[in-house]
Amino acid sequence: MVKALAINGSHRKGKNTATLLQQVLDELTLFGVDTELVSLPDYNLKWCTSCNHCMRATECSIQDDDMGILSKKMLDADIIIMGSPTYWANVSAMMKNFMDRTRYMHLAKHLLDGKIGAAVTQAGMRNGGQEACIASMESFMKAQGLIIADLRDPEQPVAFGGVTGSLQKGYDEKGTVWFKNVSEDMLAIEACKHLARNIVRRMRDMGKMV
Ligand SMILES: Cc1cc2nc3c(=O)[nH]c(=O)nc-3n(C[C@H](O)[C@H](O)[C@H](O)COP(=O)(O)O)c2cc1C
Repeated sequence: MVKALAINGSHRKGKNTATLLQQVLDELTLFGVDTELVSLPDYNLKWCTSCNHCMRATECSIQDDDMGILSKKMLDADIIIMGSPTYWANVSAMMKNFMDRTRYMHLAKHLLDGKIGAAVTQAGMRNGGQEACIASMESFMKAQGLIIADLRDPEQPVAFGGVTGSLQKGYDEKGTVWFKNVSEDMLAIEACKHLARNIVRRMRDMGKMV
């Protein structure tokens, strides 16, 4: 069975980034894909120490944390969807450290080569740096040998990058501003479904799905 792993780099579990990732996974299940969502705050990950052990070995010198659990899940998956909130027009610190810790998966040997990768982000503002955050995750996945599925398709050839959500402003009866969560950003929700369908299209093009 085809497996999709979604990795949520939000420092807050179950919030907006998780909503977007879950939308992508829910759409993928309609195509018979087995899905799993993991949240980085649930895992104890030490910092990359830049020891460069990974320049010679397909393993990290740090063995007493949860990176092994996460890397096994990545190796088992056919599709990896990265989700990070936009922090300072970039990925979250947890997501960045996670990316750093996977260095051993590509330096001595490309362990993730040929898998499909996709990215989603959620930011507070509509123009809050989402595209830079997506570019960071997509560059990482490309360097790791993944094949990127994004929002482009034959009907929307000028769309590029992954899903970018933003919080929608609401006003109560006193005129006070509050922010709705991303489940009310219908363009982002629709884009998640579209991204999932593009992932399936890529998988079919590669003969990995019927
Ligand atoms: C440290 C930090 C930096 C942030 N930087 C940005 C930013 O550059 N642009 C933006 O629009 N929102 C920014 N935000 C807001 C988050 O992107 C927003 O709250 C998002 O919904 C968080 O995702 P989550 O709900 O999955 O935790 C930042 C939030 C934090 C905590």
